[in-house]
Amino acid sequence: MEALIFAHRGSSKTHPENTMPAFQAALESGADGIELDVQLTKDHVPVVIHDLTVDRTTDGEGFVMNYTYKDIQSLDAGSWFDSTFEGIRIPSLEEVMKWIKGTHLKLNIELKNGYPRFPELEEKVIALIRQFEMEERVILSSFNHYSLVETKRLAPELETAVLFMEGLYEPWDYAEHIGARALHPYLPVAVPELIQVASSKNMPVRVFTVNGPEQMKQLLKAGCSIFTDDPETAVSIRRNWRD
Ligand code: G3P
Ligand code: MG
Repeated sequence: MEALIFAHRGSSKTHPENTMPAFQAALESGADGIELDVQLTKDHVPVVIHDLTVDRTTDGEGFVMNYTYKDIQSLDAGSWFDSTFEGIRIPSLEEVMKWIKGTHLKLNIELKNGYPRFPELEEKVIALIRQFEMEERVILSSFNHYSLVETKRLAPELETAVLFMEGLYEPWDYAEHIGARALHPYLPVAVPELIQVASSKNMPVRVFTVNGPEQMKQLLKAGCSIFTDDPETAVSIRRNWRD
């Protein structure tokens, strides 16, 4: 299997997560793709942010779902990380799509759609993927597997991937059952049996979040893709053992 490196929330070790500078840095690191998290604002605009509230990663407070797009744009999403990023905004998914279209990067959109459940999220995200003709480069994942089934119903052409944190037995059968093409396990449950059998079935395994150099090496060598906050290190490890 192809062992790809995805920058988790962009290059989030060195840049404020889920922002344009973090995505640009991921491109420059030599990563193969980026991962980002999407929710809807009060006026139903897909925006790129991980937490349910803006408290940790901006200078504001409150739930993302209670902000209009215009209001969320006024928040500073850079200073919490480092003052050199002052004034950086929460990007809309549209803004990221416009940018990524001109790169070679793959895009893993994680639908943050558990609680609260955004009923229009799948539809809005799919519309953007189609608008930018990014179908071949996008992977949609979620911890809410009902959302993955809904995605597949609305857009059978898109790849969906099962995110999970438990030690599931033979999850490839389950993935197939819900129409998903890949497994995205949490690092502690990405056991060798799972990796070997999934790979033999041509089902990609992409593990999150892998920041230790030794684990990066082992997983990439085993043919897994990884999500990492530190794509620069992962890229240099892959380069070294390939040479
Ligand atoms: O998509 C992989 C990973 O991002 C899932 O967990 O909490 O970092 O979004 P989280
Ligand atoms: Mg995520």
